[in-house]
Amino acid sequence: MRLPIVIYGEQILRTKCSDIDKDYPDLSDLIKDMTETMFASNGIGLAAPQIDLPIRLFIIGSNQIKMPVQVFINPEIISYSEETCDMAEGCLSIPGLNEIVTRSETITIRYKNVNFEDVTETYNGLYARVIQHEYDHIEGKLYVDYIKQTEEIISHLEKLKNK
Ligand code: CO
Repeated sequence: MRLPIVIYGEQILRTKCSDIDKDYPDLSDLIKDMTETMFASNGIGLAAPQIDLPIRLFIIGSNQIKMPVQVFINPEIISYSEETCDMAEGCLSIPGLNEIVTRSETITIRYKNVNFEDVTETYNGLYARVIQHEYDHIEGKLYVDYIKQTEEIISHLEKLKNK
């Protein structure tokens, strides 16, 4: 089932989300719905607060760029490289904007997979970027927090907020 996506201005996008446990109701259905929603919206990542759930869960993946779907539960990024890179980002919750963001080139993340097994993994490049973007969502942060607040950007965000 395709889920509605929360748009900029809603408080849930500014909420630090909470861990879940194994017994979280209908978790596999939720992940299935999030995957369907991400694909249908042509996103390459989707975090739970974007579908109105304040929980520490996000997915990444895209058929178009052959990025397999991966689920991150209760994640913690445990290291960010000093080396950074710049790339344009968009966000399904902030339609109509694509802006360059500077982020760490490499990150190490600890999380639980769909079987609630502990995993620690290091990612770089596009994977590291998408993971940092989605991780920010569950921390209540958005990529526009990192960019220069020009008049154009401020007015675009105001319009989204007032819709
Ligand atoms: Co986003």
